[in-house]
Amino acid sequence: MLFFRKKNTAPPADLLAFISTDIHSHLIPGVDDGVPDVETSVHFIEELQAMGIRKIVTTPHVMMDRFPNSADTLTAPYQLVQQELARRNNALPFHFAAEYYLDEQFVPLMQQPLLTISGNMVLVEISFMSAPPQLAQWLFDIQAAGYQPVLAHPERYGYYHANIPQYEQLKQQGCLLQLNLLSLTGYYGKHVQQTAEKLMAAGLPDLIGTDLHHEKHLGAIAGIGKNKKLCNTLEKYPFKNSIL
Ligand SMILES: [Fe+2]
Repeated sequence: MLFFRKKNTAPPADLLAFISTDIHSHLIPGVDDGVPDVETSVHFIEELQAMGIRKIVTTPHVMMDRFPNSADTLTAPYQLVQQELARRNNALPFHFAAEYYLDEQFVPLMQQPLLTISGNMVLVEISFMSAPPQLAQWLFDIQAAGYQPVLAHPERYGYYHANIPQYEQLKQQGCLLQLNLLSLTGYYGKHVQQTAEKLMAAGLPDLIGTDLHHEKHLGAIAGIGKNKKLCNTLEKYPFKNSIL
């Protein structure tokens, strides 16, 4: 009979130190497909801290069909997390912005103040199904409204995988690119991993994020500690998170 014993698998305390500021996660309880309650939120925040994260700007989905969030819906649950952190004497800077889903319903939102991850940076995502033909226009409009667009997980949009020049074009249009950490582990599949690696080799990503939603993500993030080659590659890459 085989006998498995759980080893002490605590990840290194500096595993995510190269990120320092995580600018993509879903840690406001009960507002999207991220954490369900304050307890889970604080648990995830403290686990990220234990791996070297020093500041968190969490980014709940704003997707009018599924998650019609705004500063109004997010402030109260955010404050509950803040209060629990304070009760635990945890002084980690914890803020919220949003991950805006770009579609026709986003267009009128640009007339009001948007939630920014840092300075005038706005985190946006697009359809996983098909390339939005209006993307160039939306990116232009976001900038005309005074914001810096940051495209979340560009490596996860399968319709761009065979088209690295498309990513260069996004950069030329003034859009920053934010890689998902777990894309580099194969968590989202081989093609996403290969695209993430190609983007890094071309020096295209500007920022990196955990996009942490749930326990499975957390376990996969902790597992990166075992992949020394990946850790070295990540530490050498000039991500700009630490200056945010
Ligand atoms: Fe996300």
